Amino acid sequence: MTAEFGSTHAMPVADPQLGLAALQAMLAERSPLAALRVFHRGLGDVFRINLPGFQPVVLAGPEAARFVLVEGRAGLRWRNDGDPVTALLRHGVLVEDGDTHDALRGLMNPALHRRMLVDYAGSMARITVEESRAWRSGQPIDMLVEMRRIALRILTETLFGADIGPEMKRMWQPVLETIAYISPGLWMVWPQARRGRKRGLAEMDRYLFALIRERRAGTDGDTLLDLLIASGLDDDLIRDQLLTMLIAGHDTSTALLAWVFALLGQHPQISQALTEEVRTGLGADALDVETLNRLPLLDQVIRETLRLYPPIHLGSRVAAVDMEYAGYLIRVGERVLYSIYLTQRDPAEWEAPDDFRPERHAGKKPRPYAWLAFGGGPRNCIGAAFGLLEAKIVLATILLRFDLGQLLKPVYAHMGATLEPSPGVYLEIQPLSVDSEGEK
Ligand code: HEM
Repeated sequence: MTAEFGSTHAMPVADPQLGLAALQAMLAERSPLAALRVFHRGLGDVFRINLPGFQPVVLAGPEAARFVLVEGRAGLRWRNDGDPVTALLRHGVLVEDGDTHDALRGLMNPALHRRMLVDYAGSMARITVEESRAWRSGQPIDMLVEMRRIALRILTETLFGADIGPEMKRMWQPVLETIAYISPGLWMVWPQARRGRKRGLAEMDRYLFALIRERRAGTDGDTLLDLLIASGLDDDLIRDQLLTMLIAGHDTSTALLAWVFALLGQHPQISQALTEEVRTGLGADALDVETLNRLPLLDQVIRETLRLYPPIHLGSRVAAVDMEYAGYLIRVGERVLYSIYLTQRDPAEWEAPDDFRPERHAGKKPRPYAWLAFGGGPRNCIGAAFGLLEAKIVLATILLRFDLGQLLKPVYAHMGATLEPSPGVYLEIQPLSVDSEGEK
């Protein structure tokens, strides 16, 4: 209790019995999210995780989200110098605060503005067609891998003006190693145990610096990379923004699309209805963005997937000052996590919260901050419109060319840099006859 905040309560922490229940749930579901759900049920919307070396405050629910994203945001920092994310992204927009953040975001905004998206739609559809051309019937396809290939190519072609496709073989492992470096792990309780190999990170830097060098040598395009160069930033700062966009912009879309296919593979009726909607509503391709955006089930399936499996399932902050929320004291320097996952599965907000029911979004807007897959407030996701359009185009393009089969292997929610379906999303798919020869 401090004089400044009057009377505050002690932060709820799991007792041994609840801790054991959380551990059992975690082992049964193979995911720490199950433990979080147990804590949330037992302790409420504000609690502390109490592990050796890791005692963050966890907040859940729309009110808590509004506090973190809007009302209390001035007292919270994004940058946490002890985190691998900061070590990796250095001065990327995602790990800066205050004026530095706002200036970087302002620089990059035009490249992600809605009016640019129509230009990107062509790349999104073409790359999906190119990558899916090799899919054969009778062979299980791992949609997690396929979606990563597609998302990486879309991101680099649209925002960097250079398709990573030809270098995919060389860059695949470095991309995975970079993601592993920032994924939760032992480092949270033992900082020396950072994962990810230095070689992969160095390769990633070589790739990005080469891109910057080549672009400085010529062209006056209007991609994100061109905007950054034109703004006068030095190579290191540009590298930080490119790496931020590459990781934040492809790993999220990969996870979202992979979960969509996992859920469709588990719900054949919804898959069938969506396929019909897409094939009836669109012509031969998914490029008519206006029509695409008017397909209700397509939108609902994506929103419901984002609700159940938000790729970014929590936001992490550090208290810059002592603050109070809901009668609890949060001390300067403490890590504050707001859980998008718990908020979006809160039974107080959602009926049958663990069920996949796309129709729940029909004509209904959730309460503010009850659905927050793209965060909220002034630092919401800069790529939200991009990510939504990409998911729609990639999914519709695939449904126009393939019949989706059932999910062949169960998946669980793996907490990597994003929440992704593990060990992969194995589907059997059937190419339609129009896909066989000669088109495109
Ligand atoms: C399905 C796709 C996506 C999801 C679910 C998603 C989710 C999010 C969320 C929840 C946040 C806020 C995190 C917090 O409050 O701590 C965020 C921020 C951010 N996202 Fe996304 N994102 C997606 C796609 C993208 C794309 C395509 C890009 C870039 C092209 C991108 C770049 C960023 C950046 C740079 C930030 C930080 C913004 C800032 O601090 O000003 N994201 N994203």
